[in-house]
Amino acid sequence: MAENSSALRIVGPTRLSGEVTVTGAKNSALKLMAASLLAPGKNTLYNVPQIADVDIMSELLTRMGCTVTFDRATLTMEIDVPEVPGHKAEYELVRKMRASINVLGPILTRVGIAEISLPGGDAIGSRGLDFHIAGLEALGATISFEHGYIIATAPNGLVGATFELNFPSVGATENLMTAAVLAKGTTTLYNVAREPDIIDLGEYLIAMGAKIEGLGSSTLIIEGVDSLHAASHSTLPDRIVTGTWAFAAAMTQGDITIKGGRADHLEIPLDKLVATGAVVTTTSDGFRVRMDQRPIAVDIATLPYPGFPTDLQPMAISLNAIARGSAMVTENVFEARFMFVNELRRLGANITVDGHHAAVSGVPLLSGAPVAATDIRAGAGLVLAALVADGVTIVEDSFHIERGYPNFAADLRTLGADVTTI
Ligand code: UD1
Repeated sequence: MAENSSALRIVGPTRLSGEVTVTGAKNSALKLMAASLLAPGKNTLYNVPQIADVDIMSELLTRMGCTVTFDRATLTMEIDVPEVPGHKAEYELVRKMRASINVLGPILTRVGIAEISLPGGDAIGSRGLDFHIAGLEALGATISFEHGYIIATAPNGLVGATFELNFPSVGATENLMTAAVLAKGTTTLYNVAREPDIIDLGEYLIAMGAKIEGLGSSTLIIEGVDSLHAASHSTLPDRIVTGTWAFAAAMTQGDITIKGGRADHLEIPLDKLVATGAVVTTTSDGFRVRMDQRPIAVDIATLPYPGFPTDLQPMAISLNAIARGSAMVTENVFEARFMFVNELRRLGANITVDGHHAAVSGVPLLSGAPVAATDIRAGAGLVLAALVADGVTIVEDSFHIERGYPNFAADLRTLGADVTTI
């Protein structure tokens, strides 16, 4: 990471303009790293973002016996995986990052046993593991909980099965995919997540020799193979970082060209921005968002992909907080994701929360104040609000933001913001 801060000091209001480059997706890179455990030998990942969570996952893989080297200049990571990786992921690391749970499927299917500490992660809801567990049990695993650990065993290997998820959970889909690729026979998974991250992971697994059909649809058919071989793969660009810059452009009445950003992964968010009055145009290697007026309030409801991403919900609330008119933002994915609304209110936002609905009435300008980031995306949403707040805003606990946004402060400065790290 370029800057390690405990707080960001932002002086507003600001108009952002210029160009930013988006690198690989956090939520993809971490899963690709975990999936590398499936293939012994030297796996190579490109376009890996320089964020704290990548370092935590590197440490976890290292403790499991892998040799991980990360060339930060080229964003290339090599993961040399031993014939028999370790099977334990300890609390000390898992508590720092929920994506650690993604080693469960690969380790169980390869080693026949996995002991993974129950994860911590963001304070955005209860985030159960019941689908992960029910799915792995359907594949023949025996699962118990002891002393804060999930202990999963399948001494004779997993066996293909048919399983339907109650909700298209991203993490559960990933764990079940990475387990099924080495199970005996065919696994059919219904109601799986369709996020681009899932396609990215599936393509990496296919490069290792896995047999997967249906990527990007709600049904995956996976034919188990005896073993997988080391492979290389380039991480897809971060759709949430991209979306954050798009919202930042619209909110600040700015003009941002997002190099590497995939507009096709953000169809609904960009349609919403157009409804607020923004102009979105594609460029040779990304797209550009321009806004010449105060945004018009827009109703937004989060849903699994291709719906509006829950990870952009804080940005949607921040935008509506300074929009013309009123709007309803509905959170359908995580139940406790409105915690940061109290912080936004400290900046003068007019928001009423009722269950999973937030009614937002726009004000012309927010007013700078000290606030605290509660998770990665809430933190980014607060920074966007600070850009349209008059005077100084200090966003405390900005380490949360650095978990998901490489070079955030530096990028903001490049776009003209007055931001300093404390
Ligand atoms: C991933 C992303 C996160 C994003 C989320 C939804 C990572 C590291 N994180 O999280 O940024 O916000 O997808 O797009 O990739 N659920 C259960 N039981 C389960 C699994 C999930 O009830 O076994 C519930 C969760 O509590 C939540 C919903 O399903 O309400 C969605 O969770 P899920 O899609 O699994 O999110 P994550 O994979 O944790």
